Amino acid sequence: MATAEPSPKIAHLDRYPDVRAALLDERFVIYKPLAGSMEAHSEPDGSQRAPRSHRPAPLLHILTEHLSGTSVAEIAARAREIASGLIERGLSRGEMDLVADLACPLPLMIMQDLLGFPQIEIEKLHSLFAAITAGQEMEASDHSLHLARLAQFSIMRWIAKHMDASQSPLMTAVRRAAKESSMEQAASYWCTMLLYAGSTTTRDFIANCLARLLEHPEEATLLHNTPALLESALEELLRIEGPVRAIGRVVGEDLSIGDLQLRRGTILYLHLDKANRDPARFPDPERVDFSRRPNPHLAFGLGVTRCLGLHLAKLEARTVLTALLPHLPRMKLAAASQWGSSTILRERTCVPVRFF
Ligand code: HEM
Repeated sequence: MATAEPSPKIAHLDRYPDVRAALLDERFVIYKPLAGSMEAHSEPDGSQRAPRSHRPAPLLHILTEHLSGTSVAEIAARAREIASGLIERGLSRGEMDLVADLACPLPLMIMQDLLGFPQIEIEKLHSLFAAITAGQEMEASDHSLHLARLAQFSIMRWIAKHMDASQSPLMTAVRRAAKESSMEQAASYWCTMLLYAGSTTTRDFIANCLARLLEHPEEATLLHNTPALLESALEELLRIEGPVRAIGRVVGEDLSIGDLQLRRGTILYLHLDKANRDPARFPDPERVDFSRRPNPHLAFGLGVTRCLGLHLAKLEARTVLTALLPHLPRMKLAAASQWGSSTILRERTCVPVRFF
């Protein structure tokens, strides 16, 4: 149900048709509390807006091209190599935490390869990512927002420092476009977002997929016995275990949508996870059906701001599932998965398993 809080400042949409309509409607401006002067502009009420027309087209064009299905397919072998190395390590120990030992390092190593940056300590980067997430939470405190900006700033500085030395095709193209259109600062902001979005969401998706299968052995057995279901299973897992719970928009003008009358400046959260479980769109929504078709889930958003990294995210999740499927029958949860407290991410923070 669509609900509004007593104050008109924050509202929520969670029915599929309303969320879908809002994603495609340019009167809802992307809410980027951390964008600062990079992409957003400040309104008289102090809020920050990032209108779609202000998006740096030359940079986005390059990112889209380098993250297309065809480009991403070229790193499939590297993803397999990293995934098997990490899994082998767990197998030889007889146990692993699927988050810390697999879901965390794989996407980060892929992103560092793509951007051509030196490996840095994963823990350090993940604590900066955690600060960024905290600053984007619904109703984040000013303190969290401040820490998030500091975290983002230190990643941007690190990126700006290494940008010139990077030999990766993606970064070479970004560097050239940034120089040609004087967008150096925007380039380091977008690379920060790429590193953050590319590492955290995929980490959570991989962890959620694996935990889901271990928590529902009948689904794991079905996938193990019928690997041809893998592609449609990935879509169903995105629908039911997609890592992005909600995304924010700023209402650009007074308007109505669903049951809501919204004033300009209201922050509107689009609950992708609830829309993906709307019984009016997905019959028997809580049932996981690896053959569900059609499956028009909104896990990657929609329209102009649809996720740029969706091919990469699917490639990484597919790679991990393919590598782990043969081991699933002898994998067991060593304890219940632990959950993070984020309001915007569906994140399991620890998924300990034993191989027997
Ligand atoms: C399962 C993993 C992922 C999920 C569920 C996911 C989800 C999303 C969603 C819902 C949006 C739309 C945000 C909005 O409209 O406000 C988005 C945008 C974005 N995603 Fe992802 N994402 C994932 C992985 C990735 C990866 C691997 C990358 C980078 C390689 C990435 C980079 C981005 C970027 C740069 C945007 C901003 C797009 C724009 O504003 O044009 N994402 N993602």
